[in-house]
Amino acid sequence: MEKKQQPEKNKNNKLVILYATQTGNAQDVAERMGREARRHHLQPLVVSMHAYNPSSLPGEHYVLFVVSTTGQGDPPDSMRGFWKFLLRKSLGHQWLAGTQFAVFGLGDSGYQKYNVVAKKLDRRLLDLGGKPLLVKGLGDDQHPFGFEAGLDPWLASLWLTLREQIPLPVGLQDPTPGDTGLGFLPPPPVSITEFYLLRARAMVDAASNPFAEVATSDHNNNSLQHGAPSMPVFAQLLKNQRLTKDDHDQDVRHIELDLGNSGAQYVPGDILTLLPRQNPTSVEKFLKHCGLDPDAYVTVEAADCDTSAADEKGDVPKRQPILVKTLVEAVMDVDSASPRRYLFEVMSHFAGAEHERERLVYFATPEGRDDLYRYNQRERRTVLEVLNDFPSVQLPLEWLLQTVPRLQPRSFSIASSQKAHPNEAHITVAVVKWATPFKRERHGLCSSWLASLNPNQGKIFVPIWFTSGAIKLPPPSVPLILVGPGTGCAPFHAFVEERVTILSRGDTVVAPVLFFFGCRKQAKDFLYEEDWLAWSTGKNVLSNNVGGGFFAAFSRDQSEKVYVQHKICEQGENVWQILQSGGAVYVAGSATKMPSDVMSAFERVIAKEAGWPIKTASQYVKELEQKGRYTVEAWS
Ligand code: 2AM
Repeated sequence: MEKKQQPEKNKNNKLVILYATQTGNAQDVAERMGREARRHHLQPLVVSMHAYNPSSLPGEHYVLFVVSTTGQGDPPDSMRGFWKFLLRKSLGHQWLAGTQFAVFGLGDSGYQKYNVVAKKLDRRLLDLGGKPLLVKGLGDDQHPFGFEAGLDPWLASLWLTLREQIPLPVGLQDPTPGDTGLGFLPPPPVSITEFYLLRARAMVDAASNPFAEVATSDHNNNSLQHGAPSMPVFAQLLKNQRLTKDDHDQDVRHIELDLGNSGAQYVPGDILTLLPRQNPTSVEKFLKHCGLDPDAYVTVEAADCDTSAADEKGDVPKRQPILVKTLVEAVMDVDSASPRRYLFEVMSHFAGAEHERERLVYFATPEGRDDLYRYNQRERRTVLEVLNDFPSVQLPLEWLLQTVPRLQPRSFSIASSQKAHPNEAHITVAVVKWATPFKRERHGLCSSWLASLNPNQGKIFVPIWFTSGAIKLPPPSVPLILVGPGTGCAPFHAFVEERVTILSRGDTVVAPVLFFFGCRKQAKDFLYEEDWLAWSTGKNVLSNNVGGGFFAAFSRDQSEKVYVQHKICEQGENVWQILQSGGAVYVAGSATKMPSDVMSAFERVIAKEAGWPIKTASQYVKELEQKGRYTVEAWS
C-alpha cells in the first residue's frame, strides 16, 4: 500500500486519538488533545479503544494513544480486546510501517508498576514497525500538579513535531506557544457531543431505573449473567452494619445486597462495582444555582460527529428524553470530584463580572497553574463550590455536561462466597473522610452514601455489576497464605467462607489456610472477629488442628507498632512449610507501604528457613509471582 510507505508525503491531516480510560482521566486528556488538534488545523478523531477496529491501524498516518495504568499494572477494561489484537504474532514487524504514533500514559508513581501499560504499548507499537513521533509522555498522579505537569510540555512538543510533518494550510496560522486558546470557545455544542454521549450512556441507563420513576418490582428480572455497566443488576440493600465500635474514629461497614433472581454470578476474588447516588441536597443546590428546571425533559444528542468512530458504525441510538434532575444525579459529580482546568477555561467565557472573568482566565493559563492547584486540587474544591465562588457565571446545560466531572462508579472486593449466600453479594466499605490543608472536612461520596442507607426505611436498590479481580481462589487442594490488614481482609473473607462451605459438604479435601489480619485495636476495629474465630476452631479451615492458623496484628494496642509482617516473621516455619507444599500467597489492602513491607517479610522468612542469602530468597519470591503463586490486590 503506497500510502502506508510514504506518510511524510501525505497531506492528510487526520489525527486519530485513541484512549483507554478507567476513571475518565485518559478520556479527558484525549478530548483536550482533540480540542488542541483542531486549533492546529488538524482533523482529530477521538475514539475509545474498544470502539475502534485495531485492524484499521495500518491505514492511519498519525495515531496518538492515551492509556492509563490501573491497580497492579493492568490495562483499563476498554483496552483488553485492542491489546490482545496487538499481541498477535501474525502481525509481524512491518505491520505498522506506515504509521506514526505517540503514546501518553497516565499512572501513579506510588505504585510499583508505574505507567507500565503505556510503556508496554509503546514497545509493542515499535516492535510492529510503527514510527514514533516523539518519545512517550508519562503523567504522574503523585506530582503536585497531577498528570498535567507531564502533559503540558509533551503536548507542546507534539504539535511542533506534527507541524514538521503536516504543512500548515495556506492562509492559516498555528496558535503561538503559550496561547491557550482562551480567546476562542469552540462552536457551542447545541447538544452534547457524541463521545460524551457514549460515556454517559451506560451511566444514564444504569441510573435512570432506580433513581427515576421506574418501578422496583421488576428489579429481579435481569437475566444477565455477570451484570455489566450497561445492564446492571438492581440489587436490594439487605443490611448495613457498622463493624467498628461507635467510639472508634474509623467507620467500616458490612453491606449485604440481594441479587434476587437476576442469575448474576461471581466467584471469590471478583470485584463488585456500583453506581453511587449523590447527596440530593447538593443536586438540588446545583440545579438551582444553574437555573435548571429539575422536572424538564431533555434529549441528549450528538453534536460533533467527527469525534467518534462509533458514528461511522451508526451504533449510537437515538436517546429517549430524560429528566434533567436524573441526568445531573446520574452523570455529573457536583459535590465530590475536583474539576479539571478546562472548566475554568469554559467558565471564563460565561462570566458576567469582569473581575471573575479575569481570575478565571488567569487560572486557565500556565502562569496561573500554581494558584489554580492551591485553590482547586489541593483543597479538593467541588464544582458546586467553584460555581458558588463565581456567581456571575451561568453555564448552559450543554457546557455543564462537557465540563463537570463524571460521576464515577466505585469498586469493592466482594467479601462473601456465593456458595454460602447464593443470592447475595457482601462488601466491606471503609467510610472515607479527611481534612484539606485548610482543615475543611471532606467525605467520600460513595462510602458516605452507603453508610447513610437504612434498609428498614423502604426498599433501596443499588445498580451493581461484577468484574474479575487480580486474585482468584485456587482449587481447595492448594494451601494458602492470606495477608489482609484492614479492609484488605474482605476478599479473604470470601476465600475462607467458600472453603468453609466446601468443607462442610464433606466431599472434598480442603488444604490448610494461614490468615494474617491487621487492625488498630482488638476491641475497636477487629473486622469480622466472630467469623475468623469460628473458622479457627475444631477441624475448620483456619484451625491449627489441620495445619492452618489465624494471626492478628493489633498495631495500636501497645507502644510499639505490630503489623501483619511481624506476625508473618513469627510464623516463619509454618509459612515456609506451606510454600514448600505448593501453597500460594495473596496480599490485599491499602497500597501505601504495606505490600512492599509484606514482601520483604516473606523474603526474610524464606532466607532464614531455607538458609539462603536474601538475594536468593528475593528471586524465589519473584518466581512465585511469575507462577501466579504470589498475588497482590492493592488500592489507595
Ligand atoms: P496503623 O494505622 O496503626 O499504622 C489496617 O489499616 C492496619 O494496617 C492498621 O493496623 C494499620 O496500622 C496497619 N498498617 C499501616 N501501615 C502498614 C504497613 N506498612 N504494613 C502493614 N500494616 C500497616
